[in-house]
Amino acid sequence: MVVFGTRPEAIKVAPLIKELQKHPNLFEVTVCVTGQHKEMLDQVLTLFEIIPDYNLNIMQQGQDLYDITTKILLGMRDVFQQVKPDVVLVHGDTTTSVAAALSAFYQQIPVGHIEAGLRTHNIYSPWPEEMNRQITGRLTTYHFAPTALSKQNLMSEGVDEAHIVVTGNTVIDALYMVINKIQTNSSVKTDLTNILKTTGYDIDRLSCKNNRRLVLITGHRRENFGEGFENICKAIKHLSSKYPNVDFVYPMHLNPNVRKPIQAIFENTQQQNVFFIEPLEYFSFVFLMEKSYLILTDSGGIQEEAPGLGKPVLVMRDTTERPEALEAGTVKLVGTDYNKIISEVSLLLDDAGKYKIMSHATNPYGDGKASRRIIAQLRQWIL
Ligand code: UD1
Ligand code: UDP
Repeated sequence: MVVFGTRPEAIKVAPLIKELQKHPNLFEVTVCVTGQHKEMLDQVLTLFEIIPDYNLNIMQQGQDLYDITTKILLGMRDVFQQVKPDVVLVHGDTTTSVAAALSAFYQQIPVGHIEAGLRTHNIYSPWPEEMNRQITGRLTTYHFAPTALSKQNLMSEGVDEAHIVVTGNTVIDALYMVINKIQTNSSVKTDLTNILKTTGYDIDRLSCKNNRRLVLITGHRRENFGEGFENICKAIKHLSSKYPNVDFVYPMHLNPNVRKPIQAIFENTQQQNVFFIEPLEYFSFVFLMEKSYLILTDSGGIQEEAPGLGKPVLVMRDTTERPEALEAGTVKLVGTDYNKIISEVSLLLDDAGKYKIMSHATNPYGDGKASRRIIAQLRQWIL
């Protein structure tokens, strides 16, 4: 059984589910979504044509971590009792991951953890994800680590090497699937351009004659709520007036804590080069990443995808569990300080040399074959 609940988990397990479903003689696959996300999850399920067998449908506006955890713990109890899976696969570091893993443990069902072993070693950054992933790791029997470093993190915590395999990150499998479709089919580009227009951003603004560039922005980390997000919004406001020839496009996460400061800080402003749009389905988002000049984000998954596209990423956090791209030089931590965000974005927009150093394509997170490696190892472990 594969259990997931949020947008990034869905993107990252979709290629694995598709691959598992190619082997009906080996695996009877059950897909269970917790529904921690709703619209943002449905976008991915529709795109990858995944129909869940179970949906706990737990999302409610304004619920807190206690609500999410307990609803999943109890909801999964019933699903596990009914299905009695041989193995449960969870992904990453969300509340869905940890609560589903704990629920499986209570019925002594072995857990396989995809994207295992990422660590900042600071339990409040990111919060609550660092603790979610540490606890999920303790509940796990089969660890699928994306990189050699994540394997090392697990071994430092005493995990038996025989229970860890390095697979690459399945996000690169998903990214390559989408990029291939965009690059090999020109009508896809036209379709995506039209879809983007309906969201309020016209990508044709970036045509050569206009000489415009695009800064793509996302943000949603709980530890940035409040002052952090206010700083981010004020910095975007300043940058957009400093660089009228640059478009700042921000597909907004649906969390009201993300949207409130945007509304407060940008109401009554008439800037023509800032676009707050609804969350994009994955295809359009990858298309926009590919068209961007640089990316400003606090997202985890985007730190893994953008280096593969040769796009510099400024990460609005103080720590990262993904140091591989930092070491490769394509990602830089800038925190949520107003002045620092402005100076680092300005540096990349103004200094072509600095930009070139950060914009080389590198891919420390995989080669697009992670799902196949996970399945090959799973066969050895459980069949
Ligand atoms: C969650 C994960 C985070 C992950 C992020 C990916 C936890 C604690 N957090 O954070 O690790 O990086 O997803 O985006 O597991 N909402 C909707 N519709 C949706 C999705 C969200 O309206 O489709 C709104 C709801 O008001 C919801 C709120 O966003 O209550 C917050 O959602 P939640 O899953 O609690 O937290 P995220 O910030 O999305
Ligand atoms: N993403 C998307 N549409 C958007 C913004 C992001 O499809 O409007 C994708 C992005 O490419 C990445 C994932 O969603 O694969 C990241 O999700 P998010 O930032 O919400 O979560 P995190 O990775 O931080 O857990």
